[in-house]
Amino acid sequence: MANQMKTIAVLTSGGDAPGMNAAIRAVVRTAIAKGLNVKGIERGYAGLLNEEIIDLDTRSVSDIIQRGGTILGTARCLEFKQPDVQKMGADICRKHGIDGLVVIGGDGSYRGAQALARNGINAIGLPGTIDLDIACTEYTIGFDTAVNTAMEAIDKVRDTSTSHERCSIIEVMGRNAGYIALWCGITNGAEEILLPENYDHNEQAIIENIIQKRRMGKKHYIIVNAEGIGDSVAMAKRIEEATGIETRATILGHIQRGGSPTCRDRYVASLMGAKAVDLLIEGKSKRVVGMQHGELVDFDIEEALAMEKTIPAYDYEVSRLLSK
Ligand code: ADP
Ligand code: F6P
Repeated sequence: MANQMKTIAVLTSGGDAPGMNAAIRAVVRTAIAKGLNVKGIERGYAGLLNEEIIDLDTRSVSDIIQRGGTILGTARCLEFKQPDVQKMGADICRKHGIDGLVVIGGDGSYRGAQALARNGINAIGLPGTIDLDIACTEYTIGFDTAVNTAMEAIDKVRDTSTSHERCSIIEVMGRNAGYIALWCGITNGAEEILLPENYDHNEQAIIENIIQKRRMGKKHYIIVNAEGIGDSVAMAKRIEEATGIETRATILGHIQRGGSPTCRDRYVASLMGAKAVDLLIEGKSKRVVGMQHGELVDFDIEEALAMEKTIPAYDYEVSRLLSK
């Protein structure tokens, strides 16, 4: 049943992701178009607890759709895991007249939204993370920009790797998930893609493969490591010692989190931001927006957090076939 929502707020939480600004803009403009007031909470749950709350209007979100990062700032706020702190957060929302909240972030941020919903604030989560590691959705805001940034960087490493006839290990982000590594591994034509989800730690097999490929005349050997695999610099040292082939590790790091969002990230973020506001206007709470088969969907947060996501077996198999 629709409720009498008057004022909503939006915050970004956890690691920033390109496209978060497009989502903020969509939340603000959709809400205003539908007669609501909108506030922005700066620096995630930390800013909520410090009452860093600002009014947002249509002009506040001008000229941001093309910008990386988040104009609201973000933070990791560990104390928000405590029930008494969560209640305090809900009380602060009430004090500022906030009836509904849109939280843009990853799984951790959803748990904060769930806690606020438990304490009486209608809350909707949007998937904002470069890691693509949210089970209820096939798409997360920021992933497309991050993989394109990483792909272009790996192409550059490959040029120098070939010139020097080296083995290159390139470590990409993803926390415990291997989606960025899988996508880059396939699109950069890597010889090896190491994913935390299925790595068997058989380094000897990799070493033998490098030696065999060198005998066949391959000038480079590209290994894309997901960061969850472990220490890429130490791995490079071990491989160089075992193969006698110069080996370098490049850790792409936070470059993957920045930059102007791609068309796809801006588009999906715009639709998801609008959808979050529609759900609040319908009186919904404790839901997350996702995408399935190209369509927007929404799930109960608890249900969403219980879902599991695995690396698509066929995609991984193809990556192995193409890496000869
Ligand atoms: P992400 O949202 O990208 O998964 P984090 O896991 O770091 O990133 O979570 C972001 C923030 O969400 C945390 O710093 C904290 O403020 C909040 N959060 C995480 N886990 C919980 C939890 N169990 N309960 C309440 N809030 C949480
Ligand atoms: O969740 C996004 C992410 O960039 C992960 O890929 C990475 O493990 C983590 O955040 C890094 O966090 P921080 O910026 O706090 O070092």
